[in-house]
Amino acid sequence: MFIGSLIEEFRKQGIFKSNMKRIVLIGYMGAGKTTLGRVLAKHLNLEFFDLDWYVENRYRMKIPQIFQEKGEEGFRQLERLMLHEVGEMEDVVISCGGGTPCFFDNMDYINQQAESVYLKAEPEVLKEHLLMGKSKRPLIEGKSPEELIAFIRESLQIREPFYAKAKHVVNIDVIHTKQQIDDYVNQIAEITSRS
Ligand code: S3P
Repeated sequence: MFIGSLIEEFRKQGIFKSNMKRIVLIGYMGAGKTTLGRVLAKHLNLEFFDLDWYVENRYRMKIPQIFQEKGEEGFRQLERLMLHEVGEMEDVVISCGGGTPCFFDNMDYINQQAESVYLKAEPEVLKEHLLMGKSKRPLIEGKSPEELIAFIRESLQIREPFYAKAKHVVNIDVIHTKQQIDDYVNQIAEITSRS
């Protein structure tokens, strides 16, 4: 136990580095965290965890149901708990939920544990991805395209300071092709390999 915490302390202070890889993708809903995370993990031969799926599996409830039964506050508590579970795993790529870095001290925890990458996209790009996607997202459920873009603009402004704390940033444009996915994945693999 004592040796374990000493090693962890040394690691935090950068006294010695392990070859262990832990990459955390953050960014607004529709930025491409899950799509790119899955391919990135395969590319680097790491295990992939999507935090939303992890929450759903552990609690055997879909995200909209958690929002409905426990409210957003209840969801954020579970999300934080699960972040701390997957955040301890080694040799993984983790895709967070769009709101994960913006609550509690989650962003500091992510930076302490991992190479964080902010997938940064303009509101128009996020809107396009969200309209193409099939995932049910309680925060934007039932919004018209006009309401959606207004909501994205407003909430992205609030969230941006949290996202901006990431160690790396990758600018994301509308993703249509497999080639674009591969290009972004190569970019993320390259920037996270330097540290
Ligand atoms: C949320 C984003 C969702 C999910 C939940 C809340 C948010 O994840 O965690 O619906 O607050 O932005 P994705 O970013 O994967 O859609």
